[in-house]
Amino acid sequence: MSKHLPFDPLEYFPIEVKDTLFESCKDTWIMHEAERVMILSMLRNLKPEVAIDCGTAHGGSLSAIAKYAKKVYTLDYDPTCKERFGKEFPNAEFISGDINETLPKLMEQINKKGENLEFILLDAQHSRQGICKEINSILKYKPQKHLFIIIHDSFIPECREGIKEANWKDCPWVHFIELDFVSGVYGYQCKNDRKMTCGLAFVLLRAIPRQGSITFHEKNRGNFENLYPISIHANTLRNRIRGKLSRWKRF
Ligand SMILES: C[S@@+](CC[C@H](N)C(=O)[O-])C[C@H]1O[C@@H](n2cnc3c(N)ncnc32)[C@H](O)[C@@H]1O
Repeated sequence: MSKHLPFDPLEYFPIEVKDTLFESCKDTWIMHEAERVMILSMLRNLKPEVAIDCGTAHGGSLSAIAKYAKKVYTLDYDPTCKERFGKEFPNAEFISGDINETLPKLMEQINKKGENLEFILLDAQHSRQGICKEINSILKYKPQKHLFIIIHDSFIPECREGIKEANWKDCPWVHFIELDFVSGVYGYQCKNDRKMTCGLAFVLLRAIPRQGSITFHEKNRGNFENLYPISIHANTLRNRIRGKLSRWKRF
């Protein structure tokens, strides 16, 4: 049973369906079903030579990436990840520390070694500045053939803004950006929480320079714009009072 989701759909699935859809990945994977299925089907077809998993947490996304990538670098603050998952995923290299420092260093190292990086999952920081910084350090890499980037939580307004603010236009290898590759959700944990979460953004980098400017595709933009003003993320009087009350309750 997953401790990280409000309910565990896997429990209700017949074993054959479960194995087909979610394979044998860890149920500690902190993503909803459509996100897991999408990532797995990409990896199954891509079989990346080298991949990066930003945000190891409980090894959920790592279990999917390590299954298909020859080699995966997995990054987290938590120094116990290697001890917890090292034996299970021998093709994983565990890097602990602040991603703002470890990711730029890793990108430099990958560039120097000339490794063929083909897949990245960004699922660590979800702040505007944090995600923007992560993307900018990745954009210094020139793909050998192609690089598929998946960014989790693109429906969180702050995270979405950070994705948009990254330096895409100055990177000639960026060919395609879809912020709602898998749509996000509203009120997932509890319908009254009014939170906008989840969602996968997808970015494709290729080894040839793009012609023309870059466009942000946002196929779920209508929902995003309708939900934002009533969500907990909007700068409304109701949310400001709520914020003050919750800070006051903590004392
Ligand atoms: C949402 S969880 C990752 C979930 C995982 N990808 C999965 O799907 O199962 C985010 C993880 O990122 C890590 N994290 C957040 N900010 C970080 C930072 N600045 N540096 C390193 N790790 C960070 C947290 O410790 C946490 O384990």
